Amino acid sequence: MPQRPLNVGIIGGGGGAFIVNPHQKAIFFDGTRRVSAAALMPDPAQAMEEAENWNYPIQGYPSYDEMLEEELKKPLGERIDYVLIVTPNFVHYDPAKKFLEAGIPVFCEKPLTITVEESQELAAIANSKNIPFCVAHTYLGHWTTRFARHIVKSGLLGDIRWADSSYIQGWLASRAEEAGVQQAEWRVDPKRAGASGCGGDIGTHAYMHLCFITGLEVEEVSAFLVNFVEGRALDDHFTTYCKLSNGGKAMIRASQISIGHKNDMGIEINGDKGSLIWEQENPEKLVILLKGQPERTYWRGDVEANDGFLGDLPEDLMSEPTIPSGHTEGFHDAFARLHRYFEVDVRSYLEGKYEKADGSKYAVVDDGVKALQFISAAVESNNNNNSWVKL
Ligand SMILES: NC(=O)c1ccc[n+]([C@@H]2O[C@H](COP(=O)([O-])OP(=O)(O)OC[C@H]3O[C@@H](n4cnc5c(N)ncnc54)[C@H](O)[C@@H]3O)[C@@H](O)[C@H]2O)c1
Repeated sequence: MPQRPLNVGIIGGGGGAFIVNPHQKAIFFDGTRRVSAAALMPDPAQAMEEAENWNYPIQGYPSYDEMLEEELKKPLGERIDYVLIVTPNFVHYDPAKKFLEAGIPVFCEKPLTITVEESQELAAIANSKNIPFCVAHTYLGHWTTRFARHIVKSGLLGDIRWADSSYIQGWLASRAEEAGVQQAEWRVDPKRAGASGCGGDIGTHAYMHLCFITGLEVEEVSAFLVNFVEGRALDDHFTTYCKLSNGGKAMIRASQISIGHKNDMGIEINGDKGSLIWEQENPEKLVILLKGQPERTYWRGDVEANDGFLGDLPEDLMSEPTIPSGHTEGFHDAFARLHRYFEVDVRSYLEGKYEKADGSKYAVVDDGVKALQFISAAVESNNNNNSWVKL
């Protein structure tokens, strides 16, 4: 008999918000999860109005505090099974803390919080109470990202010498925050975005991608943060040079002033046996370069073990339900994959069988802390003549 769908509560997302939409699609993607409740806006009346006009029935709440209080009164099976936080960065910590303290799993947008201390506090609660926690680093959800991780971690590229992980956009090349763009307005405000603008917003994605695929840590950073657009308090261009835990080096960089670039995120990794290239705007494809050989292009859905480069491939990577190669997966599928993996952990949590996630399927709360430490070290380095700062 099929299991009941999990109930998800959403915090944020009303009034023309952005990232709630891919999340909603991802939640409904498999038919095993649904949105049942939401506190959609900071203003209670607006939150209720938005909920009433939502395009499918949900239980609306005037605030996330009331959502928590009322949902806890419901029996398990009727109440929310996990909460999704899609508010601006400064409204992650408080709801995440409250829902964790009530024992409810949290799926939180990145960056986890606006300070390292807040993120550590969340990690301490989630870890001590053993509650599933996902930080929404979308791009880890691409099949090719997991495939890249398998390739690098199985040593097929040899020792990693250099990686260039980048996320380049152009949408903040002029003062979008003064042109009524809701998403720009809070992103340029240190009180609501955090200590780094571009770095916190998308540099964290580039950081997480590098760490997830290579399994390496960033140990030290020298950073150059620039605000090219006059009058901005936060960087709109973020470049770091990094020392990695294996002795390798890396560049982790992001920009929001590079006109013409949309979501130009990608990574190149150079090992002593070969190189790997992946691009987010063409996410079905992974390129491997080996000395003296024609380039190998792998496509999701058309990969075979023991092909002369690859060895055996892990069952859980290969058996995942997916559409045939050439029917393209993208951004929404990546989100869906994260929610799908998180669902498995939430179900085992509800059955009292959850074992702490190891970060191989999605970014966990400890990864969120590391990303904040990376941003904090980069800001410190930039403020100290780009000196090397240990994480
Ligand atoms: N993972 C990704 O790829 C990705 C992409 C974009 C944004 N994000 C992250 O998602 C978050 C939201 O970004 P966005 O671009 O969707 O922002 P947005 O401004 O479009 O939406 C924010 C929403 O939060 C609501 N909100 C604010 N305070 C609230 C409160 N106290 N209670 C209830 N609702 C409240 C707003 O009304 C709005 O609906 C940010 O943390 C951002 O960094 C992640």
